[in-house]
Parts: sequence; C-alpha cells; structure tokens
Amino acid sequence: MTSEITNYRDAFSLDGKVALVTGAAGTLGAEICRGLTSVGASVLITDIVEDRGIALRDELRNRGANAEFFKHNVTDESDWEAAMKMAVDSFGGLDTVVNAAAIVPMRLLADLDVEEFKKVQDVNVAGTLLGCKHASMTMRPGGISGRGGSIINLSSVMGLSGSIALASYNSSKGAVRLLTKSVAAECAMLNTGVRCNSIHPGIIDSDMGTLFLKQLVDLGVVPDMETAEAGFLAGVPMGESGKPQDIAAGIIYLASDASRYMTGAELVIDGGFYAT
Ligand SMILES: NC(=O)c1ccc[n+]([C@@H]2O[C@H](COP(=O)([O-])OP(=O)(O)OC[C@H]3O[C@@H](n4cnc5c(N)ncnc54)[C@H](O)[C@@H]3O)[C@@H](O)[C@H]2O)c1
Repeated sequence: MTSEITNYRDAFSLDGKVALVTGAAGTLGAEICRGLTSVGASVLITDIVEDRGIALRDELRNRGANAEFFKHNVTDESDWEAAMKMAVDSFGGLDTVVNAAAIVPMRLLADLDVEEFKKVQDVNVAGTLLGCKHASMTMRPGGISGRGGSIINLSSVMGLSGSIALASYNSSKGAVRLLTKSVAAECAMLNTGVRCNSIHPGIIDSDMGTLFLKQLVDLGVVPDMETAEAGFLAGVPMGESGKPQDIAAGIIYLASDASRYMTGAELVIDGGFYAT
C-alpha cells in the first residue's frame, strides 16, 4: 500500500504517474485521458481505431501533456505484452490501467445469435481479464514497472441491473464487476501493491449512450428518440444524463493515492439511477 495520506493535495495529484487507457478513441476513454493528463499523468492511449487515437495523442501533446498512442486489440494477449512494454519504455513505469474498451450490440432474445454473445464476452470480459492480468504482472514487485498501482475496470449500471435487449452486454458488465473483486482480492492477498476497482457509469452523453437509445427505437421498443430519452431520464433522480467528465473525475480519484485503501469496490456514477 502507498504511504499514509499526510497532504490531501499531493494525495489527489497524479504528478509523475503513468496511465494506460484502452478504448481511448471512444468518448469516455478520450475524456479519461484528458482528465488524467490534466492532473499530471502521462498517458498511453490504446484502441483498435488508429486515426482517432492519434488525433487524441496530438491534442494532448498540444496541451503540453506526455502522450503516446498504441494500436491495441484487447483480445490479443501479445498486444497486451507490447502495450505494457511501450508504457514502461516511453514513460519509465506504469501506475494505472483503465480497461474501457467495450462493444454494445443490442438484440432481443429471440434474435440473439450465440456467436455475437461470445464476441461481446470476448471483448468486454476476456479483454478486461487480460488487462488485469498484464497490469498486475507489470506493476507488482518484480514486474517491469514493479511499483504497485491501480487497475480500473469500466463496468456499467448495466452490470448491476438488467435491461431489455441487453442480455450480452448485461452479462459481460456483470462479469467485469465480479472479475474486479477477484483481481482485487488476489492482488491484495499476494501483497502486490496493486488495487482493482470498477466504475459503473449510468446514462452518459456519449456516442454509446446515443447508440443505446437509437437501438431501442430501431428494435421497436419505443417509437422515437425523444420517448427513449425521456423514458431513461425518468429513472434518473437527478433528472439529467451525466457528462464524460463525471466519469473521468471518478477515474482520477481511483488512480490517485487518495483511494489507497480502496480495492474491490464499485464506484457508481449515475445521478441516482441505481439507487432507486
Ligand atoms: N457511454 C455510456 O453511456 C456508458 C455507460 C456505462 C458504461 N460505459 C462503459 O464505458 C466504457 C467506454 O464507453 P464509451 O462510451 O467511451 O464507448 P465507445 O463506444 O465510444 O468507445 C469504446 C472504444 O472501444 C474500442 N474497442 C472496441 N473493441 C475493441 C477491441 N477489441 N480492442 C480495443 N479497443 C476496442 C472502440 O474502438 C471504441 O473506441 C465502455 O466499457 C462502456 O461499456 C459507457
């Protein structure tokens, strides 16, 4: 465990820390990279999509941040080995891995193809498992970074409760929730200095959020986007959707030494959606 908190500003700072973010070409992943670098971290941006990843790298560099991009398929173990090495070679170590890459095809049960179900588990669950495995091996004592660290897995409120047409995604995000606790327990009991927590965003203004509502319309569950949006917001006590920055702020906390005693926990950021 990192040393006790004696100065809160230092505890919340990420100065000198290094983070790797998967799915970082997406809406939340990109904002997470902006957030992490804004409080001092260097960041390795990874995604299967190259052009948006490189554009983000250039944007961050233009703001004076240390950023690199690595083309990375999270289901490929050799890609993970190369990504870990690149983070350490580029920035001198690794302190945080954010597993944000995911896919969310929506299908009613009668139309659900088992091959598509397996693909979702492969990217969302096996991809996150490989991230946890290689992050812990890299950050534990004797690893190529070896100074402990924090793994943060993007689950969802859809990993805590179910929803129409989301059997594959619900299953995958529920698995990420418990995978996180398993990794947390093992890393703590083996004294690796590695923590692992999950974040559970609710409805966030993002491409994925819009796609989710649009698929409800396309599947005929609701007549139009306005009805879909109103239906979901009716379930949010705070009455509005979240912003990508709300998720990045939670990631900064879990990456920082301020959360040094937190592992295996679930950080729900959803305007009260799951509370009701
Ligand atoms: N946006 C939301 O409202 C919301 C809500 C709850 C949870 N989440 C979770 O937050 C995370 C980020 O969501 P987002 O809104 O940024 O999604 P997004 O679709 O914008 O981004 C996901 C990224 O993952 C990448 N990706 C897909 N398959 C990959 C693979 N095999 N290897 C590497 N990268 C791959 C995509 O290229 C994309 O850039 C996801 O895990 C998602 O499930 C999002």
